[in-house]
Amino acid sequence: MTSDGRARVYLDHAATTRPDERVIEAMLPYLRERWHNPSSIYIEAQAARRAIDEARETVAELLGARPEEIVFTSGGSESDNLALRGVMDASRGRGRHLVTSAVEHHAVLDTAEQLGREGAAVTLVGVDGEGRVSAEAVAAAVRDDTVLVSVMHANNEVGAINDLASIGWAVRERNPRAVVHTDAVQSAAHLALDVDRLGVDLLTMTAHKLYGPRGAGVLYVRTGTPLAPQIIGGGQERERRAGTENTAAIVGLATAMRLAHEERETDLARDRALQARLLEELPRRIPLLGITGPRDASQRLPGNVSVVVGFVEGESILLALDLAGVAASSGSACTTGSVEPSHVLVAMGVPPDLARGSLRLTLGRENSEADVERLLSVLPPIVERMRALSPVRVEAPPEWAPWLVS
Ligand SMILES: Cc1ncc(COP(=O)(O)O)c(C=O)c1O
Repeated sequence: MTSDGRARVYLDHAATTRPDERVIEAMLPYLRERWHNPSSIYIEAQAARRAIDEARETVAELLGARPEEIVFTSGGSESDNLALRGVMDASRGRGRHLVTSAVEHHAVLDTAEQLGREGAAVTLVGVDGEGRVSAEAVAAAVRDDTVLVSVMHANNEVGAINDLASIGWAVRERNPRAVVHTDAVQSAAHLALDVDRLGVDLLTMTAHKLYGPRGAGVLYVRTGTPLAPQIIGGGQERERRAGTENTAAIVGLATAMRLAHEERETDLARDRALQARLLEELPRRIPLLGITGPRDASQRLPGNVSVVVGFVEGESILLALDLAGVAASSGSACTTGSVEPSHVLVAMGVPPDLARGSLRLTLGRENSEADVERLLSVLPPIVERMRALSPVRVEAPPEWAPWLVS
């Protein structure tokens, strides 16, 4: 509740989502009654094992994969780390080149950077002005010694969806031995995923972005893909990831995926409608505002609204929105007191000064039309107040022009 008694508005579904009650219900028996170690041999443990097997079958079916190709992990970051490190380690002697994009999540970018420090050759592919990675650009970066190509399915900041099928084709045409990984953490919440149609060998997912619990993720590993385990010391997950399985979280992940599948149409319709309203109305109500990410709704994640607001800092808007009862996010990272513009917006070519005013609103099951109207009523006066406080009023620099809508 806010101080005026109104319910708070949650517009940060890309950060995490509230676990669905049905997911919690499905998990509880594995915390209360079937808490036993699935690797033990007694009856209770076998029930836990069966639950994991069933969850694996559900996840595999929903991804168009085989159960043995599913590795349960602790989440997206671990799956990304396992994919990159696992393939590069397993391919020693065959090549040390890794291709990824400049707009990946830090779980991929920082791992690639670290692999670079350890001797791998890393090529970062750029993006277009809407945040998309092109198949041509990826293919041009692939070499004879390329071992792995990792390109995200949809971007977490600007919602740009990449055409992975084309990227996969282009990579294989250039080097048939290169392995293709995608981070599908954001897209899995909204889009039906099929590993064959996407043309990927490895795919990362996490439960907490699709109304499942924190601490459960998936790495899909196509049969025959070289992958060295990164957590060792137990035979779990067919020797690909050691550690006693988190039965309840795994059951929660599979339940959340099944619900996302069953409710896809409802979720899509709601998110798209709310997204369209915001994308249309924000530029009308706030001068010097730009929409970042794809204009074409079919190439943008439903529910993603990302904008830049001239002459204000994203972090300041977030604080003011919080006080007004709205939880949102910004692409910028506050490091040691100074606000760094988002690496995604910078890679897209957004001028850094304008990128500092970035704001990401992500819609989902928490939201209704009333939430969007509330945002539309509180945000414009916040921006106006902040601009009025600014000591110098200057014209928008000419390089901002292509990015601004209003
Ligand atoms: C694109 C992307 N990849 C990876 C992650 C990390 O996932 P997790 O929080 O499950 O470690 C996130 C989370 O924000 C993400 O948005």
